[in-house]
Amino acid sequence: MLGRDLQDALAGRDVTAVDRGELDITDLAAVREAVAGYDVIINAAAYTAVDAAEENEAAAYLVNAIGPRNLAIGAAFVGAKLVQISTDYVFDGAGSAPYVEDTAIDPINAYGRTKAAGEQFVLTEHPAGSYIVRTAWLYGAHGPNFGRTMLTLAAGRDTVSVVADQFGQPTWTVDLAAQIVALLDADAPAGIYHGTNAGKTSWFGFAQAVFESAGLDPERVEPTDSTKFVRPAARPAYSVLGHDAWAAAGLTPMRDWRDALAAAARHGAFELS
Ligand SMILES: NC(=O)c1ccc[n+]([C@@H]2O[C@H](COP(=O)([O-])OP(=O)(O)OC[C@H]3O[C@@H](n4cnc5c(N)ncnc54)[C@H](OP(=O)(O)O)[C@@H]3O)[C@@H](O)[C@H]2O)c1
Repeated sequence: MLGRDLQDALAGRDVTAVDRGELDITDLAAVREAVAGYDVIINAAAYTAVDAAEENEAAAYLVNAIGPRNLAIGAAFVGAKLVQISTDYVFDGAGSAPYVEDTAIDPINAYGRTKAAGEQFVLTEHPAGSYIVRTAWLYGAHGPNFGRTMLTLAAGRDTVSVVADQFGQPTWTVDLAAQIVALLDADAPAGIYHGTNAGKTSWFGFAQAVFESAGLDPERVEPTDSTKFVRPAARPAYSVLGHDAWAAAGLTPMRDWRDALAAAARHGAFELS
């Protein structure tokens, strides 16, 4: 999902985009060969099935920890910058104020543990040339996104129940892709950045905004709580990320999630195929 929008954000530049069939990031020899001759490597690949990771942590670790480790080794060897996309799930979600970039990580599920291990490998193997860009609640035209799920449900029933006790920042992949390009163009200092749209809402608020963007009555979305939607992997209750690192690097943080959502809707990100 993010990888496809990155390709658009980088259009016109000398870019090679590879999928799993062309490069398996868990294969160090293949990674070493693939990165030769490049100045920048962006890793948008991951094992992203959060619930499945509970039963398949070793498989998730291979992609989410060993994969970035391999890319960091390769990037350090050829002197390239590496952008590693990470997640709000490295935090425990017990906070009540936006997480600053250097907050101690403490994941509460298998996916989060594997992504946290990936961050640590990158920071160990290639600290001076890596960006960790943590994102959250991503939606984009090239994924099975939450907005599309809501509109599919809306087409088949009167009301939809959505949890109102988990807070975060819905983030449009187009905005994140542009922010990653801006980070690289600015030659910003290596380190950790939080790549989420600004503001804060719940999944309930996100769903209501999606309904509104489609001209549907937001009152058709009903609030519920996480106890009604128990899933294999625990979810952080509070996933709001702070954006101080952007300003410190002379960059503008990403816009408010509501403005991004309106633009995404205009661009057809929630259109049903
Ligand atoms: N989606 C979110 O809400 C969210 C939230 C926080 C952070 N993130 C992070 O943001 C990044 C992008 O997420 P996304 O939602 O765009 O992911 P996505 O749509 O699930 O895409 C992940 C891609 O990685 C590929 N992949 C898996 N294993 C691979 C391997 N061994 N070698 C090479 N490629 C491999 C997958 O290929 P196959 O299709 O063949 O499996 C897929 O194309 C990830 O780092 C993710 O952890 C996402």
